[in-house]
Amino acid sequence: MPPYDDLSLTQKSQVTPQPPHVVRPFLKWAGGKARLAPQIRSQLPPGSRLIEPFAGSAAVWLATDYPQALVADVNVDLIMLYQTLQREGPKFIAYCQTFFTDETNTPNVYYALRHQFNTTKCLREKAALFLYLNRHGYNGLCRYNGSGKYNVPFGRYRKPYFPEMEMHMFWHKAPHATFLVSDFRTVLAHAQLGDVVYCDPPYVPLSATANFTDYAASGFSLQDHDDLAREAERLGSEGIPVVISNHATPWTRARYHHASQTILSVPRSISRDGSRRQAVDEIIAVFGKRA
Ligand SMILES: C[S@@+](CC[C@H](N)C(=O)[O-])C[C@H]1O[C@@H](n2cnc3c(N)ncnc32)[C@H](O)[C@@H]1O
Repeated sequence: MPPYDDLSLTQKSQVTPQPPHVVRPFLKWAGGKARLAPQIRSQLPPGSRLIEPFAGSAAVWLATDYPQALVADVNVDLIMLYQTLQREGPKFIAYCQTFFTDETNTPNVYYALRHQFNTTKCLREKAALFLYLNRHGYNGLCRYNGSGKYNVPFGRYRKPYFPEMEMHMFWHKAPHATFLVSDFRTVLAHAQLGDVVYCDPPYVPLSATANFTDYAASGFSLQDHDDLAREAERLGSEGIPVVISNHATPWTRARYHHASQTILSVPRSISRDGSRRQAVDEIIAVFGKRA
């Protein structure tokens, strides 16, 4: 691998891409909203800044055109990747690409690079390896063990896709965004008039056994969902619109009773291994001003 400063940019990297209406995320993410983004966007009122406290792959920020954005998540590796891409742009993209070769797509190299990710002190390398693991690991999962070590097994993809164009699109939007590692409560405490908040928390479980909280080292409890709904009510009543998407369950329908609700039927995987697909209703709850 060439030293970082010697990384030459490919011709494509130097071309300024024309942003399409909807920019696709460059990460795979459980619960990602790329396909639902048009419906969610239609529920978002205008404003001067979008706040997305549960960013994940940032699909909704990427699909909207607010003048400013606060893109936050509790996952430090995710936000460090976004901050590195924002700061270093094409050179960082070229560096990330060096991890996408036939040689790096084997179980031995994958586990060596996963170990490197878990131990390196170099933040740039860690950020690039996070993308490598996202695209080469099993099912695009992001999972950590009890000690906070990334532990997703090898994915066995024939040729993992390197999302070069998607990263360029992200970088072109990034000057108008701030990327923040934070719990949603802290982020929401900073919302001001003129902001529009879109919240996509980890889903409430469909049943007591379907527990879908493997996004970060810590889970997301029903108490967290309740806190979020309370904050949404408070901000909505102060004239700051908050949109929450979630599974449409008796619990969410009742808990979001102060909001206007739209129910969408969405075919997608709900099982842990992604193998089972079924239609699950999704609720989009709008607290405060309507679109
Ligand atoms: C359903 S995903 C968001 C998916 C995103 N909308 C997308 O399109 O990719 C939920 C996100 O919430 C984050 N999260 C979990 N607990 C959180 C917390 N307490 N505060 C902020 N973010 C949290 C997870 O790291 C995860 O990225």
